[in-house]
Amino acid sequence: MGTEIRIAEVTKKYGDKTIIPNLSLTIRSGEFFTLLGPSGCGKTTLLRMIAGFNTIEAGSIYFDDKSINAIPPYLRNIGMVFQSYAIFPHMSVRKNVEYGLRQRKLDKKTIREWSDSIMETVKITEYADRSPNQLSGGQQQRVALARAIVIRPTVLLMDEPLSNLDAKLRIEMRSAIHDVQKEVGITTVYVTHDQEEALAISDRIAVMNQGEIQQVGTPVELYHRPANTFVATFVGTSTVFDAVFQGNDGDAFVVIDGQLRVKVDHLRSGIADSEALKVSVRPEEFIPVRDPQQTNVLKGVVKSCVFLGKYLNYEVQLTSGRMIEMSQPASGIRDYFKEGEEIALTVDCERINVFDGAGSVNLIREEG
Ligand SMILES: Nc1ncnc2c1ncn2[C@@H]1O[C@H](COP(=O)(O)OP(=O)(O)O)[C@@H](O)[C@H]1O
Ligand SMILES: [Mg+2]
Repeated sequence: MGTEIRIAEVTKKYGDKTIIPNLSLTIRSGEFFTLLGPSGCGKTTLLRMIAGFNTIEAGSIYFDDKSINAIPPYLRNIGMVFQSYAIFPHMSVRKNVEYGLRQRKLDKKTIREWSDSIMETVKITEYADRSPNQLSGGQQQRVALARAIVIRPTVLLMDEPLSNLDAKLRIEMRSAIHDVQKEVGITTVYVTHDQEEALAISDRIAVMNQGEIQQVGTPVELYHRPANTFVATFVGTSTVFDAVFQGNDGDAFVVIDGQLRVKVDHLRSGIADSEALKVSVRPEEFIPVRDPQQTNVLKGVVKSCVFLGKYLNYEVQLTSGRMIEMSQPASGIRDYFKEGEEIALTVDCERINVFDGAGSVNLIREEG
């Protein structure tokens, strides 16, 4: 069984500057949990608080029911992987992996067994006798991962472990890390600013901005029902429009960008007529309208069309001057839009998101 990490109302200050104000979060046993947010939002700071490298100015962190505030880092039994590989260049791969076990003075047989097993798991057995400088970046990061988990830590913390790798290796390594974590079953906190990586690798994600958690959810929840416009635009791509509410006999309408009036079901009640709203639309939620008679549309001109195999991606300039991104699945589409072509769009009312005027509260009620 993995360990639950409970962060209860913690505050981090540097001098008189509050970096993390009163943050609470529970990371479940065995979960692959990601802290996602822009550079400087406090991800590393929070991770270092869990590791014990940072002081905590207020609040508590618990591993299961035990407060760890007063436990020094070296007694927290934590495995860590950083952006830099932090492996010893003068030791073979096997010696690197065994290092933490030797320090713990385990017997020879256990050291051999545990390190053999973990090298199998992260697929570096064939390099066991090599020196790290004979390995690629991806292989070195596998060694770092093996070294972090061979000690059977209580939790595994990873801070942007893939940012030094090239794009192709990053994708390969993120599934390797995911598979290894699932096999070992260790509670893992992973830090990244790369939303695509976070979506691909995580059970759940906390989106952070300026030291505060914006939303906690599964990748699917964050993508489909972002809590606010920050999450809507940081996770995946969204166009955020100004919009206005119109109630009509109990039906709810939203007028997007002063032009497109759509009926939206499942809106929260209590929104006033003419109230200002924000609406976010993802590229795949725009729907081209072929009927020239239809006037309830957003009009624009196609500025670029990129064929990506599965998708056609368009940049469209609306008559307001606004550039938006729109995409269509490529399969079955023969008459795609060309550059310079005029286009009329509506939106998928089931999938778009509607927020209050500040963009800080999602007004869609989830059914059931
Ligand atoms: N040792 C430090 N002293 C003062 N300010 C710091 C220190 N470490 C980080 N900060 C500040 O805390 C904020 C969060 O930093 P960090 O946690 O590294 O962000 P992230 O990992 O999300 O990029 C930043 O504004 C950064 O400048
Ligand atoms: Mg960082």
